[in-house]
Amino acid sequence: MKVIVSDTPKELGITAARIAAEYLNGLISKKGYARIVVSTGSSQFETFEALIASDIDWSKVEMFHLDEYAGLPESHPASFRKYLKERFVSKVNLLAVNFVDGNPGIIQALSRKLLEKPVDLGLIGIGENGHIAFNDPPADFETKDAYILVNLSDTCKKQQVGEGWFANVDEVPKQAVSMSVHQIMQCGKIISCVPHAVKAKAVADTMNNDLTNLVPATILKNHSDWTLLLDKASAALF
Ligand code: GLP
Repeated sequence: MKVIVSDTPKELGITAARIAAEYLNGLISKKGYARIVVSTGSSQFETFEALIASDIDWSKVEMFHLDEYAGLPESHPASFRKYLKERFVSKVNLLAVNFVDGNPGIIQALSRKLLEKPVDLGLIGIGENGHIAFNDPPADFETKDAYILVNLSDTCKKQQVGEGWFANVDEVPKQAVSMSVHQIMQCGKIISCVPHAVKAKAVADTMNNDLTNLVPATILKNHSDWTLLLDKASAALF
């Protein structure tokens, strides 16, 4: 585990992109391609900004997507497909793009596609309640399925309302299609970009607790190549 504290979210994003670029470029020169899985959410804004400005041969990179609200149309402002198309996919020329479209019917086909080859790099955010992807506490640490249908907790829904993606908690979908915890842990390398003061408690809970599915991100400490990127505000409590 490596922890890097940057002064600002912008600096954090630049650091994340530098580490990701070095790793992806190394893989591309060794085996000709790389596979990544990406998070969304407000915490990832600066990382995507820096990634699209990086010197990476995106035409050799296949992208998978971490999670999406069940049944949410892409036209909704909170849609993560919309987010990724606007902030990443339209800005770089990726080898292939695999969205989670929020229709639980796609789980089998998407999982099959994902499991064809290992995923090299996971950019895995941490939510205010310590979730990774949409695996809210108490997270399922047991399932080996790659993508699962999960229920969203109240704390998770409140975060989404707090960030302005939905007007109130009743508007937040009750379920999401999410990469499972087990599958996230199969990424060859994991970089977690976790800026902002609202994440300080989740960061402290992650660092100060032993493995517990009540703080799902604690499992990342068991990964052999995990880098946690914080800014001063998110690092304040640990
Ligand atoms: C979000 C997203 C995930 C992200 C995580 C943390 O809700 N669905 O893709 O990794 O939770 O990000 P944020 O706190 O910015 O939402």
